[in-house]
Amino acid sequence: MKHESSPPLLHHHLRYSSRRISSLAKPVVYFLCLLLAYSLGYLSSSTRNNNNNINNDKLPPAVHVNAVVCRTANTVISSGFTEADHNNFGAVCGEAVPPQDVRSKIMERVFKGTSPWENFPPPHVDNFLRKKWVKGWGSKGAVFENLIRRVRPKTIIEVGTFLGASALHMVDLTRKLGLDDTQIICIDDFRGWPGFSDHPRMKDMKMVNGDVLLMYQFMQNVVQANATESVVYMPFSSGSALEKLCEWGVFGELIEVDAGHDFHSAWSDINRAFKLLKPGSEGGVIFGHDYFTAADNRGVRRAVNLFARVYNLTVQIDGQHWVFHIANRL
Ligand SMILES: C[S@@+](CC[C@H](N)C(=O)[O-])C[C@H]1O[C@@H](n2cnc3c(N)ncnc32)[C@H](O)[C@@H]1O
Repeated sequence: MKHESSPPLLHHHLRYSSRRISSLAKPVVYFLCLLLAYSLGYLSSSTRNNNNNINNDKLPPAVHVNAVVCRTANTVISSGFTEADHNNFGAVCGEAVPPQDVRSKIMERVFKGTSPWENFPPPHVDNFLRKKWVKGWGSKGAVFENLIRRVRPKTIIEVGTFLGASALHMVDLTRKLGLDDTQIICIDDFRGWPGFSDHPRMKDMKMVNGDVLLMYQFMQNVVQANATESVVYMPFSSGSALEKLCEWGVFGELIEVDAGHDFHSAWSDINRAFKLLKPGSEGGVIFGHDYFTAADNRGVRRAVNLFARVYNLTVQIDGQHWVFHIANRL
């Protein structure tokens, strides 16, 4: 029977081999994992090319993405996430509110039906406001008149209002062109940006309990311009305000995008603004400032150019502004 049992040497060999296999298994699994990661990275980058018609020739390879895929592969696969989701801001908004009802819709939904200018200014800020203080950047560029003459909008949406320089310029233009019923919806969180009041042009801004009073000074400027009936505002982040307008069916024919100037802010604002042009043949115009600004790694310009590529549009330039004429939003 002795001969049936394995010789000690063979035992030792088998034990050694299985230890070797298990110690080999780790690198093999690791290699397979890397292979899977590489394939996923390759597949996702080709999907992106097909779906969005973006020319990725100049984009760096997604190597850093592969490095984390091993740990997250299951999540990625089971959530069905694709890079096309980055461009998907949803397309369906509520049924269109007629232009003559846009103002009352916003007054109802944002201000419970009472004009925010009633009993303005409130006592706690009264002493801090200037009679009129309007400052902006490129806020009176020729583009405003060119576009308002051409589009003759009933509803203008401005994303990024600050003290109201560009909005009030548009009020002047609509009056001059006899567009007396045009409403301008101003969207701004009225916070500026961290530290903005250190800017030499803003250093005189007063602060009450940490509030820089931008909204109140904007309201005061609107009062001074006798424009409280032409302007309505939404003091919220651009993302939440634009999404609500979409949900409520408030569309515009002319939309200015001039809020956050980093790539991601500009990208999401432009995409959300696009949804607020009425679908169908009416079309409209989206435009904005700072196409040429060097700050933020030219975030606005990158976002505008990417949008043009995704939707096959031409970027037109008017002074410092970029402009998209959209003839037919499907
Ligand atoms: C360049 S200023 C707008 C200037 C204005 N269009 C003009 O020409 O007079 C940018 C404004 O966008 C606002 N802003 C920036 N990011 C925002 C965001 N995510 N949501 C709402 N407002 C924002 C800031 O508070 C600031 O008032």
